[in-house]
Amino acid sequence: MKEVLDELDRRRHEARMGGGQRRIDAQHSKGKLTARERIEVLLDHKSFEEFDMFVEHRCVDFGMADTKMPGDGVVTGWGTVNGRKVFVFSKDFTVFGGSLSESHAAKITKLQDMALRNRAPIIGLFDAGGARIQEGVAALGGYGEVFKRNVQASGVIPQISLILGPCAGGDVYSPAMTDFIFMVRDTSYMYVTGPDVVKTVTNETVTHEQLGGASVHTTKSSIADGAFDNDIEALIEMRRLIDLLPASNQADLPEIECHDDSERIDRSLDWLVPDNPNKPYDMKELILKTVDEGDFFEIQPTFARNIITGFGRMEGRTFGIVANQPMVLAGVLDSDASRKAARFVRFCDCFNIPIVTFVDVPGFLPGTAQEYGGLIKHGAKLLFAYSEATVPKITIITRKAYGGAYDVMSSKHIGGDLNYAWPTAEIAVMGAKGAAEILYRGDLNDPEKIAARIKEYEKRFANPFVAAERGYIDEVIFPHSTRKRLARALRMLRDKHMEQPWKKHDNIPL
Ligand code: HXC
Repeated sequence: MKEVLDELDRRRHEARMGGGQRRIDAQHSKGKLTARERIEVLLDHKSFEEFDMFVEHRCVDFGMADTKMPGDGVVTGWGTVNGRKVFVFSKDFTVFGGSLSESHAAKITKLQDMALRNRAPIIGLFDAGGARIQEGVAALGGYGEVFKRNVQASGVIPQISLILGPCAGGDVYSPAMTDFIFMVRDTSYMYVTGPDVVKTVTNETVTHEQLGGASVHTTKSSIADGAFDNDIEALIEMRRLIDLLPASNQADLPEIECHDDSERIDRSLDWLVPDNPNKPYDMKELILKTVDEGDFFEIQPTFARNIITGFGRMEGRTFGIVANQPMVLAGVLDSDASRKAARFVRFCDCFNIPIVTFVDVPGFLPGTAQEYGGLIKHGAKLLFAYSEATVPKITIITRKAYGGAYDVMSSKHIGGDLNYAWPTAEIAVMGAKGAAEILYRGDLNDPEKIAARIKEYEKRFANPFVAAERGYIDEVIFPHSTRKRLARALRMLRDKHMEQPWKKHDNIPL
């Protein structure tokens, strides 16, 4: 018997060594953890149960029959994050560069099926070079199976991808179909093909960082939702994110103990909006002063910074926040901001996370650059996303809500459940100056006359009361009571139920 037990021990040890000590050392020397070390950091201590540790590839081409490593480049299993069940797969770069073979794919699809069947989030830790080149179409078929399951699970369970090394091919396309992608600065890269292939095909010389580093994907392409300094920070932040998310589209919102009084008022908010309507202020201050304990998990903090998206809690329960940021481009809606917010709104709606929208928006950004870039369609994405969302939607207009952007930013007309305004709100087709200059073009040469016209327009529309008179604003609230009002509103809307007409699915303007 002892021999049998020893043999199991030996085999397990061999599997845990992945591609061997030399490659593990190389991994560490690049500042990266190994696949198993990452899982240790991500999950609660001793909660990980591994599956398929002894799976090997079946490829015989290119001398592969003699090169087998148990586990075949991916570690899969389940465990808990703060006691809540999650499924994890972690690519092992020390084994064939984490590349995907037919057997490797089967391990992942088995886990995807388990996660979907058991309605719990799945987290992929990526550090992998795409399809196993030696396996050819068998690897491509494997990816197809993974992709199909990514799509089946989309909107049913949260899927999170963490990019922790150089990732190419299928190891970027699968993450691209998940809900969130996070990267590590300076050690992780995402590209369809790496710099060598780029050089061969296009003769372009480019570094890994220039082609697909975190600096590119969190500011230019918007592929990644955030970046962290190292593996450990990234994994710990993922624990924070998972804490915020429901386990599935049918699970309740997670609720944690709250030590922040929901009746708390904040007098400083009465002075947040400057007297001068053209002066910016930091919308994040309002967010941080409103959510429980100032705890805000921001999504895409460095892309399209004119709009803020992220998660907070109220009375211990998660809600999503979308907010115009007057500090950046005066909070204008452009194509990037519209796409960013639309995707976030749709995520919240999939998983029954209520959405709170803080509005201070001067309109859509005019100009050829925006129009040629498809502003109409990108803006429509946000309009569509808000209009189709059936989760509780609460809107607070702090200052400007001009033109089409007023409609788009979760207005009453497209289904806002509770729409509040601060007394500083200005709800109008456009700013008073622009309006007067169009309406009274003949007075343009007379500064006194035009100033009087501007004043007149301001008096009539630079306030929330015209909208409130029509019931488009449910109530004008004191800024200092924002947290209290939101807490009450979210409580009242907890059992919101809406039927939609039957359809196969909608046709959002992609
Ligand atoms: C087999 C691979 C591999 C792959 C890397 N390796 N990628 N083995 N198939 N796709 C192996 C290497 O041979 C090496 O083995 C080890 O992994 C480490 O690789 P290095 O190149 O030494 O590491 P590094 O310099 O850090 O570069 C990493 C890399 C590069 C950028 C990922 O390896 C690379 O460009 N790989 C190919 C990427 C690619 O084009 N994949 C196919 C994509 S197509 P040893 O034995 O030395 O440790 C695809 C189709 C999917 O995925 C469908 C999409 C829709």
